[in-house]
Amino acid sequence: MCGIIGIIGKNDDTVSHLIEGLRRLEYRGYDSTGIATLDNDAIARRRAEGKLQNLERLIKAEPIAGNIGIGHTRWATHGAPTVNNAHPHGNGKVALVHNGIIENFHELQKQLSGVHLESETDTEVVVHLISDYLDKGLPPEQAVHETLKQLKGAFALVILFRDFPDMLIGARKGSPLVVGYGGQDAEEYFFGSDALALAGLATHICYLEDGDWAVLKRDKIVIYDEAGTQIDRPIELSTISSALIGKGNHKHYMLKEIYEQPTVLGTVLSAMLDAARYHVQLPDLPIAPKNIEKITIIACGTASYAGMVGKYWIEQWAGIPVEVDIASEFRYRTPALPKQNGLCIIISQSGETMDTLEALRYAKQHGQKILAIVNVEKSTIDREADQSIYTRTGPEISVASTKAFTSQLVVIALLAQYLAQSLDKSVGGEKQPLELMRGFSELPSKLIEGLNSEEMIKTIARDLQEARDVIFLGRGKMFPIALEGALKLKEISYIHAEGYAAGELKHGPIALIDEYIKVVVLAPYDALFEKILSNMQEVISRNGKVILISDRQGIDAAKQQINTARDMELLSVIEVPSCHQDLAPILYSLPVQLLAYHTALIKGVDIDQPRNLAKSVTVE
Ligand code: M6R
Repeated sequence: MCGIIGIIGKNDDTVSHLIEGLRRLEYRGYDSTGIATLDNDAIARRRAEGKLQNLERLIKAEPIAGNIGIGHTRWATHGAPTVNNAHPHGNGKVALVHNGIIENFHELQKQLSGVHLESETDTEVVVHLISDYLDKGLPPEQAVHETLKQLKGAFALVILFRDFPDMLIGARKGSPLVVGYGGQDAEEYFFGSDALALAGLATHICYLEDGDWAVLKRDKIVIYDEAGTQIDRPIELSTISSALIGKGNHKHYMLKEIYEQPTVLGTVLSAMLDAARYHVQLPDLPIAPKNIEKITIIACGTASYAGMVGKYWIEQWAGIPVEVDIASEFRYRTPALPKQNGLCIIISQSGETMDTLEALRYAKQHGQKILAIVNVEKSTIDREADQSIYTRTGPEISVASTKAFTSQLVVIALLAQYLAQSLDKSVGGEKQPLELMRGFSELPSKLIEGLNSEEMIKTIARDLQEARDVIFLGRGKMFPIALEGALKLKEISYIHAEGYAAGELKHGPIALIDEYIKVVVLAPYDALFEKILSNMQEVISRNGKVILISDRQGIDAAKQQINTARDMELLSVIEVPSCHQDLAPILYSLPVQLLAYHTALIKGVDIDQPRNLAKSVTVE
């Protein structure tokens, strides 16, 4: 959840590079930030509550220097987001930054009787354990290794030593950590929570394996495995350019990422689909389609909604039974999994979500083959899966997921098509294959057309921002998009919102309907349209305000039925281009994203970094 960086440099720009790295890592948490350097043979620390700009202000007022240092951006777990609890933690001899949770920290604290702890964190104890070993005369490598043996939980650590000014040690277990190699003349070495943190700083990256720890010196890097044996890990060219992670001309990353969707989906489609030959190009699946007995899809949050739509597609087109599980529930409920030929599809943008990763491991231990749909290549989920399909969106920085979601949808739709074709099922169910292939090919241009509704959405958002509660309704494949619309709205605008299958309204949620509630109805003009129109009327007749998102035919049909002046007053519409009805979830994601964005914009809240959240949730 937290972001960590370490730099061992040759120049005076280490502090600015630490800040630059932290800026790229802020998406992992922004409760507090801090850096520590070796400045005139002493460990100098600067820490601030809240966002990076507060730390920058502090450093301006109280500068520190040095060409070796560590930095941290925190998503609080143990201890409130105060300066005292901010990383780096240190005792003058050792300073360190930590991502993850040290589960046995209470136990370890007891061993350290007599030591005064300044913070309420699970981290500070590690500082003292390492110092104790140093005091006993152990060299830093051994002091760290002995300490690591005592730690339980998931963690990544980077450690700075006062008395060893040419060395940083980093370790990972459960949480990711990469080593970076700087440019030819700079010869700097780095630690980072991910390759993104080192974009523009490191030219080459080495992904540490679980249990690895590495010693960075001024002229070399030595990597050890958990047992302490020196080991080589592959070093790869960093593919992330710092140019990819700017906001461009947009006010927020979220808007930039919404606008990138036509291009991103075009890239995914052209890499995976030869529409003219009805051919879906996929890497070999871990189980041949004809042998798959059951598919279990596991993910969290937005990614789990992509999985829910995937269930509709796979069952409809390929006829393979699918179960969708929320990762945080999956391994605690004794799921009934096939003994053989069970395929588990893990969906994750970051590839580092702890709940999802642990679910992957559980599924693997229980005999499932793992197919990951993942955005970040070389992430832990990518590396632990038997096979991965990449969503190819480039870095997604905004905490609210947008382009990653729609590309997950496209990938899973194409996977469903691939399974259907491999099993000789009629492509697209009742529909002609040609129509479906055309539907896929048209998605990028339909998304561009969909962006035209932004002005209308801005007007509706003005009204929505005053809502006390918002209900999103959808039927069939649009039900997960209703869930996603509600998540997006509450996540960035802090308005209470819930998504329901429209047919469920009358089984309870209808009790909420009054003149203060707004109901967003996602209703493409398809076989279920008449049914959802009835649900919409049930709302209007109880004075609820409806925002109908539909295509031209749907809007006309709705207006024909809702024809009194009073009822019309309760209805607003957002028009979406018509598209292949099976692919509507992809296109209808766009207006719900824009609706959340513009509502949050009017409310003036922090869109890219909403309160209490972090982009990558690497704790359970
Ligand atoms: O990186 P992941 O796709 O595994 O993340 C899963 C969820 O944490 C994520 O989708 C979250 O729900 C987003 N903030 C939603 O916008």
